[in-house]
Amino acid sequence: MCQTPLKRPSGWSSERSTTGQGEKHVEHRRKGRRHHRGSSGLGEATARLLASSGAKVFLGARRTERLNAVVTDIRRAGGQAASRTVDVTKRAEVEAFIRTAVEQFGRIDVVVNNAGVMASAPLAKALIDEWDRMIDINLKGVLYGIAAALPIFERQHGGQFINIASVAGLKVRAGNAVYAATKHAVRALSEGLRLEAGEGIRTTIISPGVVQSELPLGAPIPRAPRK
Ligand SMILES: NC(=O)c1ccc[n+]([C@@H]2O[C@H](COP(=O)([O-])OP(=O)(O)OC[C@H]3O[C@@H](n4cnc5c(N)ncnc54)[C@H](OP(=O)(O)O)[C@@H]3O)[C@@H](O)[C@H]2O)c1
Repeated sequence: MCQTPLKRPSGWSSERSTTGQGEKHVEHRRKGRRHHRGSSGLGEATARLLASSGAKVFLGARRTERLNAVVTDIRRAGGQAASRTVDVTKRAEVEAFIRTAVEQFGRIDVVVNNAGVMASAPLAKALIDEWDRMIDINLKGVLYGIAAALPIFERQHGGQFINIASVAGLKVRAGNAVYAATKHAVRALSEGLRLEAGEGIRTTIISPGVVQSELPLGAPIPRAPRK
């Protein structure tokens, strides 16, 4: 997801904002928070919040009809939004997505690398298709987003990556090793990017706790045969 914020969202305190280079560990507890049924999760909520605060948002995911519905909602509420279908495991699609965002809005100020899936199972189950899927989406998808947007940020002399990691990127639990590995990797490559990126290019890691979403299900794939 890309966005060209006009101003910082009014609902963000400095503690929750993503303007620093440090890592934010965000705990969202279920109790006391409003969750919208049928939400596609953190990415959708982020887009709605930013758009309601005046940012122009460009959304990407595989489910075109879901994207269209969110864009329609945002526009009805007076916000500015557009979308393009993208599968982040396909480098050419990610490049086209970023290119279209620039064509649409003239520049990109922030790229949120949010796409992710989680499949939990002990390593001994060897669900290798699911391992591949998590690595392709959670890790390579973020790398493709960086590869596509970094040259644009360098030309603009500014821009911000917000990479969505997880508490699983800080602590490994039994049954979650591969997901945790991808999120540790997101933190590592984000830190590398922070060290390497030129002046004006900021890198932020968000490590959410548990948030009710479609994450535990994700898009279905055929199960790998048990050995
Ligand atoms: N929910 C939590 O408790 C939690 C905690 C820590 C971190 N996170 C992280 O937060 C991020 C968002 O997760 P969520 O909880 O909001 O789950 P979600 O509701 O399942 O959202 C995942 C998003 O990723 C998109 N996506 C998945 N595969 C994709 C692909 N190949 N190409 C493009 N888009 C793809 C999905 O859209 P399509 O299916 O339409 O493509 C969806 O918009 C993930 O990186 C997740 O690891 C979540």
